[in-house]
Amino acid sequence: MTKTALVTGANKGIGYEIAKRLLESGFRVLVGARDQERGETAVTALQAFGDAHLILLDVADLNSVDNAVKTITENHPELSLLVNNAGIPGDMHKVGWEFAVKDLQATHQVNFIGPFALSKGLLPLLIANKGTIQNISIPIEPLPYFNAFAYTTSKAPLNVMTKSWGMSFEKKNIPVEIFTVMPGAVSTDLNGRMTGDYVKTPVQAAELIVNFVLDEENHNGQVINFDGTLSVY
Ligand SMILES: NC(=O)c1ccc[n+]([C@@H]2O[C@H](COP(=O)([O-])OP(=O)(O)OC[C@H]3O[C@@H](n4cnc5c(N)ncnc54)[C@H](OP(=O)(O)O)[C@@H]3O)[C@@H](O)[C@H]2O)c1
Repeated sequence: MTKTALVTGANKGIGYEIAKRLLESGFRVLVGARDQERGETAVTALQAFGDAHLILLDVADLNSVDNAVKTITENHPELSLLVNNAGIPGDMHKVGWEFAVKDLQATHQVNFIGPFALSKGLLPLLIANKGTIQNISIPIEPLPYFNAFAYTTSKAPLNVMTKSWGMSFEKKNIPVEIFTVMPGAVSTDLNGRMTGDYVKTPVQAAELIVNFVLDEENHNGQVINFDGTLSVY
C-alpha cells in the first residue's frame, strides 16, 4: 500500500527536497505550503517525481492548521508520516533582549506552537497507521559563533517535545515514533544561502533526513545530529 507523508514548508529549500526524496522512495506526498501560488509551482515540479498534492498550511495560523487536519483526516486517513519542516530563523543578529515580544512570539509560533498543534491534530491518524513524526531542528546550545536567540529558544521546545512525547508513547504503548534530525548548516534562503566547506546542499540534507525514515530503525525519542550521534538536546 502507498504510504502518505505530509511535509510542511515543502515549497522550497530542505522541505522541497525532502518531498522529492519521499516521492522517489514511493511515498504519496502532501506538499504543505502557506502560499497557494508558491505551493502550486512546487507541486507541479514535484509531480514529475510521483504522487504530490498541495495542502495549504500556514503553521503560524491555528485555523489553517485545523483546516489542514480536517482535510487530511477526510481525504488521506492513511497518513503515516508527518515531517515538521517549516521554520523561520527570526532575526539572527539581534541579541536576546533586543527582541520585541511579538517578534519572539511569531518565531515560537512557527517553530513550535504550529508543529505542536499539527502533530496533536494528526495524532489520531498517526496512531491508527502506526506512523512517525519527524521534526527538523537545530542544536540549541548558544555558541560564540551561533547565538541566534529567537531561533534557538523556539527550536528548544521542539527538541523537548521529541523526548517528552517519545517517552510517553513508549510508556503508554502508543504505536507512534517521534524523532528529530538536525542536519547542520544547509545553504538555503533561511540563512541567505550561506556557503562553506561544512555547508550542505538541500539535496544532501534531505537525503540525510529521509534516510532516518527509511532505515527501519526505531528512533523514537531521539534528537539526532547530522553525523548520526544523539544529542542530549
Ligand atoms: N538551512 C539550515 O542551515 C538549517 C539547519 C538546520 C535546520 N534547519 C531547519 O530546516 C527547516 C527548513 O528550513 P530551510 O533551510 O529549508 O529554509 P527555507 O528555504 O527558508 O524554507 C522554509 C520553508 O518553511 C516555510 N514556512 C515559513 N513559515 C511558514 C509558515 N508560517 N507556515 C508554513 N510554512 C512556512 C517557507 O515557506 P515560504 O516560501 O512561504 O516562506 C519554506 O517553504 C527549518 O525548520 C529550519 O529551521 C535549517
